[in-house]
Amino acid sequence: MNMIDLIKSRRNIKKFKTDLVDQNIIQKWLEAASMAPNHRMTEPWEITFIGPETRKKLNHKTDFGNAPVLMAVLSRHGATQVETEENAAATACFIQNFNLAAWSEGAGTFWSSIGINGKNRELLEVPENYDLLGVFGIGYPEVVPEEKPRTAIEQKIKYLP
Ligand SMILES: Cc1cc2nc3c(=O)[nH]c(=O)nc-3n(C[C@H](O)[C@H](O)[C@H](O)COP(=O)(O)O)c2cc1C
Repeated sequence: MNMIDLIKSRRNIKKFKTDLVDQNIIQKWLEAASMAPNHRMTEPWEITFIGPETRKKLNHKTDFGNAPVLMAVLSRHGATQVETEENAAATACFIQNFNLAAWSEGAGTFWSSIGINGKNRELLEVPENYDLLGVFGIGYPEVVPEEKPRTAIEQKIKYLP
């Protein structure tokens, strides 16, 4: 599949197979993800793998589509508000690299933004100076959702003289 088809076919997965995902394969996707652009080489991302005991205690409506693996992605604050925003942008690039690396090998992720919940932050031991950008279920999709239509890109483009 070429890159454009790969990007267009990716979905947020809500139901996973029970098959495990090899930790070495996940590490390979993380290495690919870490080639993300990041201003001044801050590499602001940190990963926390969530074991079964901690998973049970998470405050979340679903069980991440029964994903066999759960990881949190944190983004470090910078010295200024601008640096913090740039770091979050870099970590979002990291996340999308990860999503696409996994997708290219038949796996998917469920992105959940449960990090705004203070109890989850505490449970996941997120330091004060980090944002929790998401908790990700990772696995092989049982169901691939239909495409969610996007606004025509022409409506998002402005041309300045
Ligand atoms: C910052 C961020 C937070 C998200 N949080 C959630 C979430 O809490 N629960 C959820 O079901 N999906 C979440 N998503 C996934 C989006 O709902 C999903 O990407 C969107 O519906 C488009 O679907 P698609 O990715 O399959 O094209 C999140 C995505 C982003 C970028």
